[in-house]
Amino acid sequence: MSRIRLLPETVASQVAAGEVVERPASVVKELVENSLDAAAHKVDILIRRGGISFIRVIDDGCGMDRDDALLSLERHATSKIRSVADLEAVGTLGFRGEALPSIASVSRFRLTSREVNAVAGTEIVVNGGKIDIVRDGGEAPGTQVEVRSLFYNVPARRKFLRTENTESRNIEHQLHLQAIGHTSVAFTFARDDRVVFQLPATITLADRVRDLYGKELLGQLLALDGRTSSQIRISGLIGRAGLSRQTRAQQLVFVNGRAIESPVITAAVREGYHTALMKGQYPVTFLFLELDPGAVDVNVHPAKREVRFRDPNSIREAVVKAIQETLAGSRADWQEKFRAPGQPVGGTVSISPSEPKGGSPPCELPELEREFALRGQRSIEITTNRTIGGRTSISSQPFASSDESVGRDRARPSTQQQFQIIGVLNKLYVLMENADGLVLVDQHAAHERILFEELRRRMEEQGVPSQKLLLSQTFEVAPRDADWIEQNMDVLQKMGIGIESFGPNAFKIDSLPGFLNVTDGAQFMRKVIDDLKSASDRSSPLRLGEEMIAKTVCRHAVKANDPLRYLEVEKLIQDLLECDLPYCCPHGRPTMIQISHAELEKKFGRKV
Ligand SMILES: Nc1ncnc2c1ncn2[C@@H]1O[C@H](COP(=O)(O)OP(=O)(O)OP(=O)(O)O)[C@@H](O)[C@H]1O
Ligand SMILES: [Mg+2]
Repeated sequence: MSRIRLLPETVASQVAAGEVVERPASVVKELVENSLDAAAHKVDILIRRGGISFIRVIDDGCGMDRDDALLSLERHATSKIRSVADLEAVGTLGFRGEALPSIASVSRFRLTSREVNAVAGTEIVVNGGKIDIVRDGGEAPGTQVEVRSLFYNVPARRKFLRTENTESRNIEHQLHLQAIGHTSVAFTFARDDRVVFQLPATITLADRVRDLYGKELLGQLLALDGRTSSQIRISGLIGRAGLSRQTRAQQLVFVNGRAIESPVITAAVREGYHTALMKGQYPVTFLFLELDPGAVDVNVHPAKREVRFRDPNSIREAVVKAIQETLAGSRADWQEKFRAPGQPVGGTVSISPSEPKGGSPPCELPELEREFALRGQRSIEITTNRTIGGRTSISSQPFASSDESVGRDRARPSTQQQFQIIGVLNKLYVLMENADGLVLVDQHAAHERILFEELRRRMEEQGVPSQKLLLSQTFEVAPRDADWIEQNMDVLQKMGIGIESFGPNAFKIDSLPGFLNVTDGAQFMRKVIDDLKSASDRSSPLRLGEEMIAKTVCRHAVKANDPLRYLEVEKLIQDLLECDLPYCCPHGRPTMIQISHAELEKKFGRKV
């Protein structure tokens, strides 16, 4: 007796559904993708109980006639490709003709659809893959799909579902991807009859991000604008240095309009951020890559979540470069933000309360104002050895000066005109005022960033100054490591490591970078090599040098509780603003925090 049998169509669909429909969020993904492929302008999604009991997606897309609606439920029935060659240039989100039959085979499914000019629409009801009802239906043009009791007939699958809350969150994340990827489409999402978001169609990504995530996040994003090469165009919005998240939820990447997860791009993004990102944290990106459809294979993942690049290296390089340039290019914007409110051209630092910008005038407080003014005048004199900080209250020891103050205004560089130092809190946080409100600078983190960039610049230019060891040391390494040292001798020397060959697989060290606090050169070298090995194989020795610097500057930077003199604080801020990435330390922690006027007004109940 023959052992091999053809599976009945329903069973085959259920098996295929295992790959396509993992959880409620996969159903939502597939249905919304279909709506987008049908050129919908508006997609409404409703779920109940995490999508397990009910999912409904309504669109105003092209709709289907009765024959097509029936055909859409057959496996391998698609309007999107005709041949394997079409797969090379697929411009739609779907292409397999698997989604609808898969979903219909594991749920109680109802589809109604009507073409724009058709007199009547069609309604089809399918239960567990079996068509039960086909009839005329009078719905509005477009398509509506309802999916009830997901996995009711596949208990094994149902067991793997998480809590309703988790499933809902997955669905919401999925919808975020679709909404960010398709800004010109309006989306409404309701969960258990409560509207979660309602997004109007927009033209720009920025508008969509604002509508979905709020103004505050948008304010922390940088535009990565149309970087084009012959192979790839990259655009989007990315978080500025120092902005990070605990999860990848806001690290969104789209390739030709499709939200994807790609280790190649994730690694490239991380490399692009490098010291601008805290270890173990994730950046915020809304990154759009457009490339020739032939250069990317979309047919490699059952849920179409991953793609394969024909030339991953060039993609990686382009992404790294785009991110690096965007982060570095944002410096000017930040400096602009540091322009103090209503500041005289001469850059006078003043403590007197600044005029409120816009809105209604503040309550009259003549007494207090006069006192501020008097104190301001009394503290004209600023001597270089005056120590600031501690818990000294701002009003009793303001860093005020006036035009006659020690004549230092004229000599100051332009950045100095862009902020107004108020004082130092707890010997750690420099308080400043700029046009947007209050800025807090972590003096330790700021100093780390300054030292880091200084040493890196020296390493790249003339080399880091090195310090002779009392006794030179020789050491041996494995042949592979010896090769690496030989190849990178130049860079190592620029890093301030005085190293030379000393026989096969042996080296001699007679000096080490001056900023390092090590005495055992051999042990240090072994550590450098180990670090390199544990780093990804793309890591260059120069990058390793940067890491070495980042690890050591911490020890040299101003300690959190070091009291600084006024001029030192001023210099620190100036130097920070001159940095390439002023807003985070080399470990990715923020150096400064802005508290806007609006936030302050809200906190004080002036504005609700
Ligand atoms: N909302 C919709 N509006 C109009 N046509 C639709 C809609 N949903 C599905 N269709 C039609 O039904 C066909 C089958 O849909 P299905 O999702 O099963 O496959 P697909 O989108 O072609 O490929 P994939 O399995 O990759 O999603 C589609 O090719 C499309 O022609
Ligand atoms: Mg589809």
